[in-house]
Amino acid sequence: MKKTIAVMLSVSLLSSVAVMAQPAKSAKQAAGAIEARQAIFKLVKSNVGILGAMNKGAVPFDAEILQTNAKRLEQLSLMVEDYFATDTSKFDLDTEAVDDIWKNQADFNEKADALTLASVELYKAAAAGDESKYKSAIGGVFKTCKGCHDSYKAD
Ligand code: HEC
Repeated sequence: MKKTIAVMLSVSLLSSVAVMAQPAKSAKQAAGAIEARQAIFKLVKSNVGILGAMNKGAVPFDAEILQTNAKRLEQLSLMVEDYFATDTSKFDLDTEAVDDIWKNQADFNEKADALTLASVELYKAAAAGDESKYKSAIGGVFKTCKGCHDSYKAD
């Protein structure tokens, strides 16, 4: 009985710990991981383009688009931690990801969380139809791109 409790305890402790990065086992696996994470950011980019255009006044603010894209950005941001859990730094492959990501995983994940939070804020402003908040909420999303790229993406 005692043993069962100890095992249960250690399992629950483990599951509360964040995903630990694992080194890629082969160049092929690393290349696949890189392809998938770059696909996430391609989708991120495709969802922020119109937001930038709205903030510049090139297209009118549209609460429906803002809600849709904010929701997508939130979902995409939630994938970042998992898709960077494969450490590809040992392989010489075509990537803009900086090796420090796997030395500072917690900090990197916090920067991904910042995108989640900013997306939620944008969603809330759009759902409330509070146009006075759109500009700063969109700006808040873009701030998180730079916040991560400055440390973890090579130009
Ligand atoms: C938590 C960190 C992080 C955040 C937040 C982040 N990025 Fe990135 N981004 C990266 C990294 C790392 C790469 C390089 C991935 C690679 O090449 O393996 C990247 C790559 C990209 C790429 C290139 C994708 C390709 O075609 O290879 C684009 C575009 C991009 N990001 C746009 C954005 C935008 C726009 C935002 C904000 C809305 C954003 N990113 C937020 C870390 C981040």
